[in-house]
Amino acid sequence: MVNDAHTPTFENLHRERRTFKPAVGFAVHANARAYEYKKAGVDRLEYWREAAMRLAWHRPFTEILDWTDAPFARWFYDGTLNACDNAVDRHVREGRGDRVAFHFEGEPGDTQTLTYADMHERVQRAANGLASLGVRMGDRVAIYLPQIPEAVVAMLACARIGAIHSVVFGGFSAESLRQRIDDAEAKLVITADGGNRRGAHLALKPLVDEALAAGDHHPEECASVKNVLVVRRTGQDTAWTEGRDLWWHDVVDPQPADHEPVWVPAEHPLFILYTSGTTGTPKGLFHSTGGYLAGAAHTHRMVFDLKPETDVYWCTADVGWITGHSYIVYGPMTNGATQVLYEGTPDTPHRGRWWEIVEKYGVTIFYTAPTAIRTFMKWGEAIPDGYDLGSLRLLGSVGEPINPEAWMWHRRVIGGDRCPVVDTWWQTETGAIMISPLPGVTATKPGSAMTPMPGISVDVVDDAGVPVGPGEAGYLVITEPWPSMLRGIWADPVRYGRTYWNRFDGMYFAGDGAKKDVDGDLWLLGRIDDVMNVSGHRLTTTEIEHALVSHPWVAEAAVVGAQDEVTGQAVVAFVIVRQDADAVPTDGDEVAAALREHVRHEIGALARPRTILVVSEVPKTRSGKIMRRLLRDVAERRPVGDVTTLADSSVMDAIRDGLAAGTKD
Ligand code: WT7
Repeated sequence: MVNDAHTPTFENLHRERRTFKPAVGFAVHANARAYEYKKAGVDRLEYWREAAMRLAWHRPFTEILDWTDAPFARWFYDGTLNACDNAVDRHVREGRGDRVAFHFEGEPGDTQTLTYADMHERVQRAANGLASLGVRMGDRVAIYLPQIPEAVVAMLACARIGAIHSVVFGGFSAESLRQRIDDAEAKLVITADGGNRRGAHLALKPLVDEALAAGDHHPEECASVKNVLVVRRTGQDTAWTEGRDLWWHDVVDPQPADHEPVWVPAEHPLFILYTSGTTGTPKGLFHSTGGYLAGAAHTHRMVFDLKPETDVYWCTADVGWITGHSYIVYGPMTNGATQVLYEGTPDTPHRGRWWEIVEKYGVTIFYTAPTAIRTFMKWGEAIPDGYDLGSLRLLGSVGEPINPEAWMWHRRVIGGDRCPVVDTWWQTETGAIMISPLPGVTATKPGSAMTPMPGISVDVVDDAGVPVGPGEAGYLVITEPWPSMLRGIWADPVRYGRTYWNRFDGMYFAGDGAKKDVDGDLWLLGRIDDVMNVSGHRLTTTEIEHALVSHPWVAEAAVVGAQDEVTGQAVVAFVIVRQDADAVPTDGDEVAAALREHVRHEIGALARPRTILVVSEVPKTRSGKIMRRLLRDVAERRPVGDVTTLADSSVMDAIRDGLAAGTKD
């Protein structure tokens, strides 16, 4: 089954033999030390106890782990704390209020400098504002904002009052937003009139209105929402529902900048974040306060070697994803980092924008995704060469397997051959980095995420759960609980156990294929389930298939992830058009264009298929299961593999003939 992985199989992935030893100058000052592995190996729980003790606790914990009700874990559970207090108040309390928390750079070029003292003032006003709207501990708040300081403030204000935030990435459609608001029964939605995207104003508030409109289809849904709090960002005209909609500046600005954080038990849920699972509906994963914060802060300090007094750290992810939660908001802020927060895309107003920002703020630590690196490779190195990137001292990668070529380019062109590159493997579920080199300690290999973090137990196993030998592909599992592990799926404890813990008895199954090389270093091989990874965004084949068949023209749809040079994988859809539907264009391209737009409307632009092929049949087994393996062969323009299990072996010929006739990208 692992062989069926529809994953990027990069050319020289397994032949890679180059290694890069830590530079002595880096190693002597590194936060990470080789003995951490040993220490954690001897007493894993003691290791995590010490990591958690670095947080500010209101009531210090004495218990480390309760795993008696596995797979439901409780970490540090007799302690109380507040995540916002750790991320903000503590720095002010300890005399670091003047330190810059964020250099905010808006896409149009507007900037803000926010110190920890400024953030302290803002989160207190916002917390009072939320409380004035009746938001209480345990209530859920949906946040649908662009990448602006208010997004961070809104998240931390929720944490401050013990409300559970559910951030929905601004690129998701009204329908995706509706599902998420509804599943979490959010009481409040925080949004903006719009955001800036590639020189244009992207509207957000109209999508909230659409999501909340008690339409004919779902009259009972989203009834939980009492108010919509709207940040003015672009100044666009905005429809207004009196009694429900409120401006952020009207509610928050007049509030006193004085608010005592609500001390919550360590296991109190900090946030919900929806992510694609193998079945249609997204899963609302939720994380705890204490264990999550300990994991995010600890890994951030170790993997990014943060020196908070001198570093300028930039993670290019959006706060709408777990990377933004753990490595913009909770990890770095708990560590007192100075960060860059950028609203826009790398190519607006020009393709050197990111490097201009690195130069302007003297960024020292830079964390981004392979898809971005491959895009820059395509644009050519003359662009970054035009900027002074000499401030950089460490580079990170996350989101998908990084091919050695992109790794080497990142190191050479962006890092000037002097910066360690850390490829970090983790997931929304894991909350924090699980597999990564430790800069200053680990000799790295281009394309390998190397070894599990100290205190994390990982293995690669076969179908029966038995560890495989060196060089053999298998399933990646985590064999012991860890502090930042997800605590469950919102309102669905059964699905939690079934999805993650039942495949291999007592082990967490990540959904990824992996292999260990002869040195024991890990190579990630991508998902082995129906989850696709498009530009580091997680999507499932079924959710896109559902969107496609909801269109009146479509009788049946099959979606696969095909290798793509820039995005890692790309969505390729095979659709069968209904014979009885009215007015279906005969031109396949026209059908494809309309369906791509439909998917954008249903899920969001990120899910739009790169290619839609109109076909007369899709290949199925005799039991009626779509054979995606064969469709992937077609999508990747490979000879089609074994067809002997097909119910009708002529189907593949029909598809190939149809393709030759010209329905394509
Ligand atoms: C999936 C998780 C973790 C933040 C971003 C994605 C893939 C992630 C790597 C990496 C190979 C990676 C895995 C994983 N993935 N990082 N360094 N090397 N694969 O979070 O949306 O929860 O997706 O992303 O397939 O299962 P996510």
